[in-house]
Amino acid sequence: MIHLVALSLTSVALAAPTTGATPWGYFTNNTIMTTSGNASVSYPRFTELQNGSILATTAYRGPQPPYFPIFRSDDGGASWEHVSDLRDQVEGVGFTAQPAITHLTFPLGGYPEGTILAGGNIFGLNFTRIDLYASTDGARTWEFVSHVAEGGRANTTNGATPVWEPKFLPWNNSVIAYYSDQRNPEHGQQLSHQVSYDLKTWGPVVTDVALEPYDARPGMTNIAHVQSVNKWILVHETPIGNSSSYGVNYPVHYKLADTPVDFGPSPDIPLVVNNKTAPNASPYVVWSKDGGPLGTIIVSDADNTGVFTNTAGGDPDKWELHGTPAGAVYSRAVEILRCLPNHLLIYGGDTYDGAMEGAHEPFSVTSVNLEEVLAAPEYSFP
Ligand SMILES: *[C@@H]1O[C@H](CO)[C@@H](O)[C@H](O)[C@H]1NC(C)=O
Ligand SMILES: *[C@@H]1O[C@H](CO)[C@@H](O)[C@H](O)[C@H]1NC(C)=O
Ligand SMILES: *[C@@H]1O[C@H](CO)[C@@H](O)[C@H](O)[C@H]1NC(C)=O
Ligand SMILES: *[C@@H]1O[C@H](CO)[C@@H](O)[C@H](O)[C@H]1NC(C)=O
Ligand SMILES: *[C@@H]1O[C@H](CO)[C@@H](O)[C@H](O)[C@H]1NC(C)=O
Ligand SMILES: *[C@@H]1O[C@H](CO)[C@@H](O)[C@H](O)[C@H]1NC(C)=O
Ligand SMILES: *[C@@H]1O[C@H](CO)[C@@H](O)[C@H](O)[C@H]1NC(C)=O
Ligand SMILES: *[C@@H]1O[C@H](CO)[C@@H](O)[C@H](O)[C@H]1NC(C)=O
Repeated sequence: MIHLVALSLTSVALAAPTTGATPWGYFTNNTIMTTSGNASVSYPRFTELQNGSILATTAYRGPQPPYFPIFRSDDGGASWEHVSDLRDQVEGVGFTAQPAITHLTFPLGGYPEGTILAGGNIFGLNFTRIDLYASTDGARTWEFVSHVAEGGRANTTNGATPVWEPKFLPWNNSVIAYYSDQRNPEHGQQLSHQVSYDLKTWGPVVTDVALEPYDARPGMTNIAHVQSVNKWILVHETPIGNSSSYGVNYPVHYKLADTPVDFGPSPDIPLVVNNKTAPNASPYVVWSKDGGPLGTIIVSDADNTGVFTNTAGGDPDKWELHGTPAGAVYSRAVEILRCLPNHLLIYGGDTYDGAMEGAHEPFSVTSVNLEEVLAAPEYSFP
């Protein structure tokens, strides 16, 4: 599910926030950046560096040409500093939508360990292009690295051939780029990945999720490692024409696999709570070692303020929905702090409709205690 509305010229303001949030504490709706005019933020993304600092970014509808503003927090999300803007340096179009950010945990392609990798989707007149950039100075400056994938112009109609929604994962001395892919004529849309061992060249297109019927459109890959069972989980949305499932049109499904490059053959499992409630659209997944012997898988969606959790290693019958104090956001990212696995960070911005209707929610982050979340009922928070 993606934004296709024309971007308008808008004045923007980046406000350095001061909110009184306690370093490494818990807080609600802590502003990272406000917008002005008709600008909107949604589809937040982050990476936690090896030293515990967080880099966060967001899709930013408003400025022309569009770019992804990058912020850093050195205190668990309590305070944020604007570090740079990731701008398109080669296509002449701007970073239209769908940011991705990570960092190298090993040297690769001439870049040292710790290099920050980021990119997103560029909607050209007759193409969509997922481009990768690198920063070796803590996200202050960026250089173009490679075109990861290219498709036809941005058009969500089945039969058109764009690519969308990248996710980069460093793994096994390679970087895996996952994305939504309309180029296979046998499927309206499928989920694909390509692997690079040098960041410049990308291996063959491998299918992660392709479903029947033709008009099924699995989209928006997100992925996490469930250390306790040593499995990888891939979550995605699954619209099929106008059909609905458990009351939602973009039900979230997931696959489990032994490696992050072997999802193809795994069964595609609907994520459903009590045979009744399902997350809708643009999922994000993380894992925490807290919450039980197998830790907790946490899935966020586009519509719910709460989060979907599973403390049984992904058992399809063991999903729960728990309230949080955060708002619903289009492609809402969630994070577990590496050194504080009890800290669930939930990034804020506009919902899909809110962005269209001018809700102007700021880019923000909420930090909640995972154990309190697991103890909370649906849609309410103590
Ligand atoms: C801002 O968005 C609203 C709602 O889409 C629209 O009515 C209004 O004309 C826009 N204003 C500007 C200055 O673009
Ligand atoms: C887009 O148009 C340009 C100029 O006409 C052409 O060179 C290029 O091949 C086209 N790209 C795609 C992906 O169709
Ligand atoms: C962590 O590393 C980043 C990138 O080099 C740097 O900008 C940041 O200041 C570091 N954080 C701390 C707490 O030293
Ligand atoms: C979108 O793709 C469909 C299917 O290929 C095509 O019929 C339609 O003309 C395209 N729309 C635009 C605006 O390019
Ligand atoms: C890991 O990378 C090596 C090359 O360095 C490759 O031969 C191997 O197939 C990769 N492992 C998997 C599971 O893809
Ligand atoms: C879905 O609904 C829209 C609007 O009601 C309709 O135009 C379209 O043909 C429907 N698509 C399918 C695949 O049924
Ligand atoms: C799930 O609910 C449907 C109807 O709401 C019912 O037909 C079905 O038997 C239920 N499945 C289970 C496993 O309880
Ligand atoms: C946090 O922001 C969301 C909207 O994004 C709002 O619904 C919620 O009430 C806010 N919570 C607090 C405590 O301000």
